[in-house]
Amino acid sequence: MTSQPGPSLPERPAPPTAEVGAALTAIYHWNYEPEIDQLRTLYANALERQWIGLRDLDWEAGIDREALTRTFNMGGLPVAETKFWQGLPFETRWHVSRDSAAFMLSNFLHGEQGALMVAGQLVNAVPHMDGKLYAATQTVDEARHVEVFAAYIQRLGQVFPITRGLKELLDAVIAAPDWKFKAVGMQVVTEGLALYFFRDMRNQTQEPLLKKLLTYVSRDEARHTGYGIKYLGHVVPGLSPRENRELQDFAFECTRNLMASRAANTTRERVMRLWSDAGVDPSDVLRALETERDVIGRELARTGGRYGPVSGFIIPTLRALGLYGERTAGLFKQMWTETQGREAAERYASSKAELPDDLEAWVNEGYEAL
Ligand SMILES: [Fe+2]
Ligand SMILES: [Fe+2]
Repeated sequence: MTSQPGPSLPERPAPPTAEVGAALTAIYHWNYEPEIDQLRTLYANALERQWIGLRDLDWEAGIDREALTRTFNMGGLPVAETKFWQGLPFETRWHVSRDSAAFMLSNFLHGEQGALMVAGQLVNAVPHMDGKLYAATQTVDEARHVEVFAAYIQRLGQVFPITRGLKELLDAVIAAPDWKFKAVGMQVVTEGLALYFFRDMRNQTQEPLLKKLLTYVSRDEARHTGYGIKYLGHVVPGLSPRENRELQDFAFECTRNLMASRAANTTRERVMRLWSDAGVDPSDVLRALETERDVIGRELARTGGRYGPVSGFIIPTLRALGLYGERTAGLFKQMWTETQGREAAERYASSKAELPDDLEAWVNEGYEAL
């Protein structure tokens, strides 16, 4: 007797949980007096500047579809500026804008979940009371970020799965036993990059709810990056050469993972699929972007391209911390040469960008009243 093939099973949805072995050494600290004043001040600021996602953002108004569509941007490319985009029917433009925003914000959301878990770990793992108190406030901040990004994406449609590079980065930070690695991987690299992107996206979008949401989130992120800089700045000078080298290697690996995640074929395929789902042939999109590359080029020159945040923000941070030696500079240059070519690598490597003195003021520039 031959068995008949049964009806094919429906595709199983992705499981709602994933596990990774977490590691840390929990440290008690018996001195409750302030020891690192800059961290105490940051803790006091964090308490002052708490906000409530449901109360302080205007969810009633919903998403302004026209505004989101008018400033559509694909991975830093100002597609909305092209004649090709402006010639598409509104429904198509909305469909693409909605799904692309959901895709990009989904990865921000997953990153926020990672930040939430790492901030909770830091409460245990950092060796000073000032550091623990501050990390407790960051844990609440990240919970709020998860909440508001999820609420915004819910109004757009679906949450997309995490990209592989971001997942690998978060796994590595969660699994690193030493708090200094967690702070370098999360506060310096991941949150440095997030702060840069959130601020840039805030400046560029005209959608009012997203603009306000990103302004509020960026203000918190400025503190989170500030914590990494101030705390690591306190301990890095006392590290042995071997410890310093290991931290530099970790910072480089985290950065490479994040950039690979943005450049991955899977990401590109996903973005192209968004266009075909909206009824636009992806090859028409690529051709149009090529034809109108002067428009695109102007914007890329302004933001420094895909590696802008690395040479313009992450490396200046590492340099200021004493975590950017000649060997690490060589690793970054090699990465750029392999992915962008020699000329671009020279340009990024010779960047003399410096970190803004006051991150909070940098985030607020022009948006003090929001
Ligand atoms: Fe966050
Ligand atoms: Fe953060």
